[in-house]
Amino acid sequence: MAGAYETAFRRSLDEREAFWAEAAADLHWYKAPTQILETESTPAGRWFVDGVTNTCFNALDRHVEAGRGEQAAMIYDSPVTDTVRSFTYRELRDAVAVFAGALRSRGIGKGDRVVIYMPMIPETAVAMLACARLGAVHSVVFGGFASNELAVRIDDSACKAVIAASCGIEPGRVVEYKPLLDGAIELAEHKPEFCVVFQRPECEASMVEGRDVDWHEAVAGAEPADCVPVSALDPLYILYTSGTTGQPKGVVRDNGGHMVVLHWTMKNVYGVEPGEVFWAASDVGWVVGHSYIVYAPLLAGNTAILFEGKPVGTPDAGVYWRIIEQHKVAALFTAPTAFRAIRRDDPEAKLLEGRDLSHFRTLFLAGERSDPDTLKWAEDILDRPVIDHWWQTETGWPMCANCVGIELLPVKHGSPTRPVPGWDLRVVDDENNEVPAGTIGALVVRTPMPPGSFPTLWNAHERYLDTYFTEFPGYYKTADAGYIDEEGYAYIMARTDDIINVAGHRLSTGAMEEVLAAHNDVAECAVIGVADQLKGQIPVGFLVLKAGVNRPLSEIETEVVALVRRRIGPVAAFKTAVVVERLPKTRSGKILRGTMQKVADRETWRMPATIDDPEIMAEIEAALKQVGYAGGAAAP
Ligand code: COA
Ligand code: AMP
Repeated sequence: MAGAYETAFRRSLDEREAFWAEAAADLHWYKAPTQILETESTPAGRWFVDGVTNTCFNALDRHVEAGRGEQAAMIYDSPVTDTVRSFTYRELRDAVAVFAGALRSRGIGKGDRVVIYMPMIPETAVAMLACARLGAVHSVVFGGFASNELAVRIDDSACKAVIAASCGIEPGRVVEYKPLLDGAIELAEHKPEFCVVFQRPECEASMVEGRDVDWHEAVAGAEPADCVPVSALDPLYILYTSGTTGQPKGVVRDNGGHMVVLHWTMKNVYGVEPGEVFWAASDVGWVVGHSYIVYAPLLAGNTAILFEGKPVGTPDAGVYWRIIEQHKVAALFTAPTAFRAIRRDDPEAKLLEGRDLSHFRTLFLAGERSDPDTLKWAEDILDRPVIDHWWQTETGWPMCANCVGIELLPVKHGSPTRPVPGWDLRVVDDENNEVPAGTIGALVVRTPMPPGSFPTLWNAHERYLDTYFTEFPGYYKTADAGYIDEEGYAYIMARTDDIINVAGHRLSTGAMEEVLAAHNDVAECAVIGVADQLKGQIPVGFLVLKAGVNRPLSEIETEVVALVRRRIGPVAAFKTAVVVERLPKTRSGKILRGTMQKVADRETWRMPATIDDPEIMAEIEAALKQVGYAGGAAAP
């Protein structure tokens, strides 16, 4: 309906409490909230303050009680193990209740933290929902992270237990998780009381006597546990995400606001009805996986697809079409990089021919900028709306989207459309003044924020306030730069910090620099994200060696690459390091990473006035050329 978006958007800001109270009424509360919003304790605001609920009840039991018990809740499709398995809402509820019982019998209860280090298998969703059932706080760690990253998360969350699988499966190799977990526990100062290990047939993990429990033994004979009522404000999960240093930020999500808003988005943003199939081809280790593989589709009574595979190579670039056809997927959400990979392998989309995609209505892209070329290609081959939408781990759901469930607005390539109801998005300059339409500035959100976004960082409320709410008083700082045009469409241009997006994965160049700097021969270093045709960006490291080091440079370069893989993990995709004589700096000593990146990406760049020796950029350009990048033109 024309104008429906505008009406919903205005109402979400003008009558925000009534707007979200109505959305909350669709869910089950042990005690319905009477105080809808409180803005004293945090600038973001806290929603449904006195409500008492349980997210797992709303995701599973509520549907079983309402007669949806025999509908598929989740379909596990794993081309890497050649498995397809479907779970009804009743089956999933029962599996979750039993696993929750197993955890409870080992002392897990409300407020306890549980780290989950598992691949894309149904047991991962079972573990998450079992924690939610007990009011325990889960923290899922992505499988591509190494022991050190896992140890940091174990320490920061001070978890009582870890739930892990014996392995994950990457194309061509089995990734053994258990040695990584054992290494992490050894590194961590905090020791979890016990670990539950799900043994997969592809690899049998060795168990530590007295600490590790086999998943199957844990559930055998366990009493199913009921849902534990929790406050709407109680934390549901902590999800660590890259900050500007090696110390990741523990984004906290509460129960009430999160469940209300995710439930609302399924119909309004994604346009799917209960009973329809929704597929987010991401990983449960990321926020997209939390929100749109597990919680939102289940809260809304959809059938969720849990896909263990890649867009290409498992077995080919036709796997997305096979799954959409086979499971009658109504909407797919993936990262642009996945479509770039499919296009690279099958440029004419021959593998799409003959597939019945009649149930499929919309493709959603997020996680990184959607380049218009890829977006157009997806539109052409699919002949359906392709919706770019913009969000962050911190927000938990999209801030900008074309809300197809409210009103499909005209698509503008390069823009994730307009703010989703609830998000009062603005663009400001360095002095915190709003800028005119079309002018680039910092993208910020007027506080309070809508339900579902993060109320704090775990154990770091000061860092939360400093990082997000101090630089632009009255606003949440997204750390993305961009502009809003005359018609209210947002354009997301770049991060304003040192976060880069590699194949849709959020990584910190600062964290990589910390690893490089720890190498014995390295005096100074810089890591920048350079443009990559497939992954959007990839990291490249520059090393200045300590005086007197005269080992072969290639040896040192190889060592630092291995060090990043060992310390952060393969997901960092750090494959290139190059030794240089010196780094370009301002007179105050700040490394000019932005200019280096422009040189690498062949963008026009300007020699900063603060540089004494202009020759230095030529040296950087030569180093970049040596590793296959660079050639940017200097501005006259
Ligand atoms: N466990 C262990 N290792 C993992 C992993 C996991 N869950 N996920 C990725 N890795 C490893 C990969 O095997 C690879 O290792 P390698 O260096 O030995 O090859 C490395 O981490 C880098 O992975 P990735 O950047 O994903 O590159 P890729 O070449 O394996 O795959 C794509 C490229 C485009 C196919 C892949 O990145 C992809 O599917 N992207 C979609 C991204 C996505 O869903 N993002 C979520 C945000 S919405
Ligand atoms: P993450 O927290 O991993 O979801 O990463 C969030 C960051 O990814 C954002 O701050 C943006 O920089 C980037 N991002 C996510 N979605 C988009 C999008 N649709 N367009 C441009 N950038 C995006």
